Amino acid sequence: MRGGAEFLRGFVRNPAQVGSVVPSSPRLEQRLVRNGCIAQAKCVVELGPGTGGTTDAILQALPPAARLMAIELDPHFHDHLRRTLHDSRLLLEHASAERIAELLSARRLAPPDTIISGIPFSTMPAEVSDRIASLVAQVLRPGGRFVAYQVRAHVAGFMTPYLGEPVREWELLNVPPVRVFTWVKA
Ligand SMILES: C[S@@+](CC[C@H](N)C(=O)[O-])C[C@H]1O[C@@H](n2cnc3c(N)ncnc32)[C@H](O)[C@@H]1O
Repeated sequence: MRGGAEFLRGFVRNPAQVGSVVPSSPRLEQRLVRNGCIAQAKCVVELGPGTGGTTDAILQALPPAARLMAIELDPHFHDHLRRTLHDSRLLLEHASAERIAELLSARRLAPPDTIISGIPFSTMPAEVSDRIASLVAQVLRPGGRFVAYQVRAHVAGFMTPYLGEPVREWELLNVPPVRVFTWVKA
């Protein structure tokens, strides 16, 4: 697990925003990479990279000419990512996921093939969660995938009106076990 001590400090600073005490497990990271079809992607967005374990797993599977934009709200995590992850395909943004559309446009990126999200839809204000859900559905290319990992199921309530029913799975080899939702945009 990448940046465990830094991650714990982030949780102590802001438990509701970080939503977990430890970073994602390698098993969860591999499930996200698989469900997101990262090996075939040209443009990927990650919402809530934290200390970068999921980001690193995405980069390892990402084709050489592809791009990954990682949007992180916590300034300490964003600094940590800048210091520890060096990859020309990676574009780091210190911002809220609410700015996904303008950030894609400012970077002149194509509509993403995949968006991977660990941000806590259950603790954000409902209007913020709904705004992000609507933007994710809007920016994703047709046939693109939205993969969200969450302890609770709130993300499905926000996303289903925009993208329909997801495939629902559990990843038990994670602390704590998490739900993984995968949508494919029609
Ligand atoms: C559960 S952690 C996931 C971290 C990492 N991807 C992992 O799996 O180990 C959720 C992350 O989302 C970030 N976050 C929360 N709300 C956000 C928002 N509105 N926009 C961007 N990032 C956000 C938190 O700061 C935290 O880094």
